[in-house]
Amino acid sequence: MNDLPGPGTVRAEAGPKEPLGDTLPASWYADPAIFAKERPAIFQRHWQLFAHESRMPGPGDYVAGTLCDLPILVTRGRDGKVRGFHNVCRHRAAQLVPDGIGRAGALVCPYHGWSYDGEGRLIRARDFGADAGLDAQSIGLFPLRTECWKGLVFVCFDLDAPPLLDWLGPIARMAADYPLERYRFYRDKIREVAIDWKAYGDNYLEGYHLELMHPGLCAAIDTSQYVIDVYDREEFFHLYGPRRADGLTQGLYFYRFPVLMLNLYDWGASIATIEPLGAGRMRHVNWYLFEDLSPATGPERDRITEWAIEIVSEDIAVVTGVQRNLNAGVYDRGRLSPKHEHALKGFQDMVRRSLAAYDAGWRPALRGP
Ligand code: FES
Ligand SMILES: [Fe+2]
Repeated sequence: MNDLPGPGTVRAEAGPKEPLGDTLPASWYADPAIFAKERPAIFQRHWQLFAHESRMPGPGDYVAGTLCDLPILVTRGRDGKVRGFHNVCRHRAAQLVPDGIGRAGALVCPYHGWSYDGEGRLIRARDFGADAGLDAQSIGLFPLRTECWKGLVFVCFDLDAPPLLDWLGPIARMAADYPLERYRFYRDKIREVAIDWKAYGDNYLEGYHLELMHPGLCAAIDTSQYVIDVYDREEFFHLYGPRRADGLTQGLYFYRFPVLMLNLYDWGASIATIEPLGAGRMRHVNWYLFEDLSPATGPERDRITEWAIEIVSEDIAVVTGVQRNLNAGVYDRGRLSPKHEHALKGFQDMVRRSLAAYDAGWRPALRGP
């Protein structure tokens, strides 16, 4: 195991501390005006997980989908490099490739047939006619900052954001012993739910509910010793609980603000992220990666995967009810447990700080027209 960051960078709290005060107000989980600020203040500021490299192994392979409601794609060029673009044709804004995975020699717009290469350059404006004012050289797909770490493909809308490795911070060093780059994509589980991304984060970042909500998890780890370290400055959380004698393999668990969840094991990984779809709505995307995808280990893979999916289902069931009540307007704020909810408090402080910076005038450096 790698060294953990030294004192001064971590605020680790495991026991009762001073009062933590109250939760965020309920309206923050349901108000479209708050979500309209969170998009630039939080989601466009941070790197966001988008694809796994094993789904795009060769030149011309692409993965298309949305982030912050913006259609985007990442594709592997002939030079092997992964690049990201907005999935929008420069002619009249058609979506260039359908959402999902695919392979194309060139990116050809289905509407009028303009084609682009893997570096985003316009190759040909099909049957366009003479137009001296059209400068084909200067017309390319709108690029996105795209970087890979151990097979995970991230994109970022903010041109001023730090490089991905800096954004990951100590996580990259702490995870160095886990051969994530060798793990292959096994399956995903994608769910659209009526939950605000913050309500999901709140739930993820406290162990208070584990005993009552997750019998399967409690059978695997000793939740009475569950600890979450908060890294305020680096904006991530390190979660751990000792494995029970007959529990599943011990792993390394991180939550990187705002929505990246990394669970690393020596046999594979469960990696999740959230795409917020609006106030009180989100898409939960979970990938299950394994080093060994041989048929012989299939039953064990399925057992582990179903076990992990069930834990998320238990969370989604209870938090869906929470969200319904946050929307209803009866409840506004609740008191946070000093014994169990310091990480949740840290998370909510990160949200508060981000929105305060936005209110004070901070904006992400988005690519201009
Ligand atoms: S919109 Fe793509 S070619 Fe016309
Ligand atoms: Fe949970």
